[in-house]
Amino acid sequence: MLSAQGTEKKVAVVTGGAEGLGAEIAHRLAREGFEIALLDLNGEGLESTAAAIRGAFPELRVLTIKADLADAALVSDAFAEVESHFGRVDALINTAGGSGTEPVHDIEDLAPEMWSQVLNANVTSAFLCSRMAVPLMRRNGFGRIVNFSSAVADGLAGPSGTVGARLPYAASKAAVIGLTKQLAKDLGSSGITVNAVSPGLILPEHGRVRRVFEALPEEAQAATCAAIPAGRTGTGAEIAAAVAYLVSPEAGFTSGCVLNVDGAA
Ligand SMILES: NC(=O)c1ccc[n+]([C@@H]2O[C@H](COP(=O)([O-])OP(=O)(O)OC[C@H]3O[C@@H](n4cnc5c(N)ncnc54)[C@H](O)[C@@H]3O)[C@@H](O)[C@H]2O)c1
Repeated sequence: MLSAQGTEKKVAVVTGGAEGLGAEIAHRLAREGFEIALLDLNGEGLESTAAAIRGAFPELRVLTIKADLADAALVSDAFAEVESHFGRVDALINTAGGSGTEPVHDIEDLAPEMWSQVLNANVTSAFLCSRMAVPLMRRNGFGRIVNFSSAVADGLAGPSGTVGARLPYAASKAAVIGLTKQLAKDLGSSGITVNAVSPGLILPEHGRVRRVFEALPEEAQAATCAAIPAGRTGTGAEIAAAVAYLVSPEAGFTSGCVLNVDGAA
């Protein structure tokens, strides 16, 4: 893909790129011609995603950076490394996040530390990465930011009874929508768009959500699919296709939008 400035390839920073949806999005954007910077906590997963992309697209550079993206200093260092390696950032895909690992049943038992951990992983990381990417995008008068919300943000997809897994997650994914809409307005005519993808239940080719789903008894898997109007779970490829549209030059008039990819959940 040629940039507006000349023959340099465009560069996409994909957070949460070690496995799951981030890995599939990175692969799809490489197919679109982007060079890729993968950022994640999971160093082993980063290397395996990078190796797969390099194998398929040997002409593209792929950079991996292991970092906790909720840490402002580490995010600043990571983007300094991206800048020195590629000299530009055209797209930022804020896929990193998660629901935390210790479900509890009552709000009284939800530790403030767990609340902060989930909010930091899902919202603060997107804020910190956007904060570092926007100045690099402004230089070229072009940028695409895609954040990750969830159908859970609408209160539609979460079973009750596991406050620890759901409450901070739902709050954080609603906050991602606020971040997306306000930043889209703030960046207005800068050439930088900001959108969110809101997935329903998606089973990536490899990743945590697939492992959790496949560990359920078959009846529970069938009941889960039956509760989704489309009658099935979504695929990582369907999410990656939505992202590929949102980062394309043709999507320049689409900003502040939340794109549901959820089988009408
Ligand atoms: N898969 C789904 O069904 C689904 C549904 C709705 C929303 N989402 C959202 O989509 C995104 C990707 O989902 P997924 O299924 O690939 O999840 P996943 O758990 O498989 O992958 C998330 C990645 O983010 C990384 N990460 C988490 N916190 C981090 C931090 N502080 N710093 C750096 N890296 C961090 C993890 O190491 C992991 O590689 C998440 O934001 C998730 O909440 C997923």
